[in-house]
Amino acid sequence: MLERTLSIIKPDAVKAKNAGKIIEMLESNGFSIIGMKKIHLTKEQAKKFYIVHKDRPFYDSLTDFMSEGPIIVMVLEKDNAIEDYRKLMGATNPEDAEEGTIRKLFGTNIERNAVHGSDSKESASYEIGFFFNELELV
Ligand code: CMP
Repeated sequence: MLERTLSIIKPDAVKAKNAGKIIEMLESNGFSIIGMKKIHLTKEQAKKFYIVHKDRPFYDSLTDFMSEGPIIVMVLEKDNAIEDYRKLMGATNPEDAEEGTIRKLFGTNIERNAVHGSDSKESASYEIGFFFNELELV
């Protein structure tokens, strides 16, 4: 089934100039980019985006990291996009990620892990709506 998911190229990967390589991987794996923007989140915006993690010990550090520099936010479309993009990203911790995955190639540690992807239909819907309105998706 044709699905949409939210992808973020995080500040570590943008700063390291790995965005182009990551976008190339997305397109060569069949994802269509139907929305895209580069933005620099404030700490408050990062806290709002990651509100589901508000009680986790890493929440403050994660939201500092996500607001330290620009990110590239994309809406990806493909059959089975949510699960397929999670496979392409690899495990949250780059040390545990399979060879050839984005996090294995470009992640540094469990926090500075290069990319984010929605983990369910519900989170994809919330996360896409957080960054884009329907008119921006083409
Ligand atoms: P992401 O897929 O964006 O979802 C939540 C983020 O929190 C995750 O990627 C990591 O960047 C970060 N994260 C998850 N677990 C930990 C952890 N144990 N310690 C630090 N950061 C974490």
